[in-house]
Amino acid sequence: MDVKRIKTNGVETVFDDEGSGPPVVLLHGFPFNRTMWGEQFEGLKGRHRMIAPDLRGLGETIAAAAIATMEQMAHDVAALLDTLELDRAVVCGLSMGGYVALEFCHFFPERVTALVLAGTRAPADNAEEKQNRERQATRLLAEGMKGIADETLPKLLARETLASKAEVVSRVRQMIESTDPRRAAAAQHGMAARRDYSESLTRIKVPTLVIVGREDSIRPLSDAQFMHSKIRNSRLEVIENAAHVSNMERPEVFNNALSLLLKEISQNH
Ligand code: MLT
Repeated sequence: MDVKRIKTNGVETVFDDEGSGPPVVLLHGFPFNRTMWGEQFEGLKGRHRMIAPDLRGLGETIAAAAIATMEQMAHDVAALLDTLELDRAVVCGLSMGGYVALEFCHFFPERVTALVLAGTRAPADNAEEKQNRERQATRLLAEGMKGIADETLPKLLARETLASKAEVVSRVRQMIESTDPRRAAAAQHGMAARRDYSESLTRIKVPTLVIVGREDSIRPLSDAQFMHSKIRNSRLEVIENAAHVSNMERPEVFNNALSLLLKEISQNH
């Protein structure tokens, strides 16, 4: 795959862009990068233009600031669409990518044709969660990423993934360990500062798919049910034998749910 780059808003965003058809923008989680969407590219690029940026500071997108906010990331996505001359797209975000997707809806509702919120949640962090992020940021800067990878892998992945999908486990570990700790800390500061999206959910009018892995203890079913209850035009997909990174753990189920949404919106246009 060719590496593509654009320079906007003071950062050089690296992104993948493959396939043709109605565009779908995929926004990765933390501390991951655009390679987490490989299975979605493979499954859907025959019918859709699949676009996945590395969000600022993560993957190959270099950014120097000590904080990378959801607002900046959402504006980076808008700038990427501008450069690609796309007015609108389906926006799909997982976890931190979901916060960016909700932030994007906040600033650019008219640019979203449909929304996918996977393994994410609407409320802002409470004081304790903010403190945990600050503690983790300090630790990342002091110790690097390996300890976080060891600690979080058992939470990120379902029992079945850990036991029988060694390739997925190693890809997730590799994404975490290859992240620059300074940029992971910057994203943690950014997530701690994110707005509360709970009230704005009722303003989302586009078809929305809410996805959650049944074993996700980081962003559990109750978070998904809350978003589903507030977004009128939404469907909830609970993926069995998946935890936080459901798109990599059960790509066939994730892709089927996404394809269904994409078919529905193409029939209505
Ligand atoms: C993610 O996977 O993006 C993170 O779990 C998001 C978060 O820390 O809130």
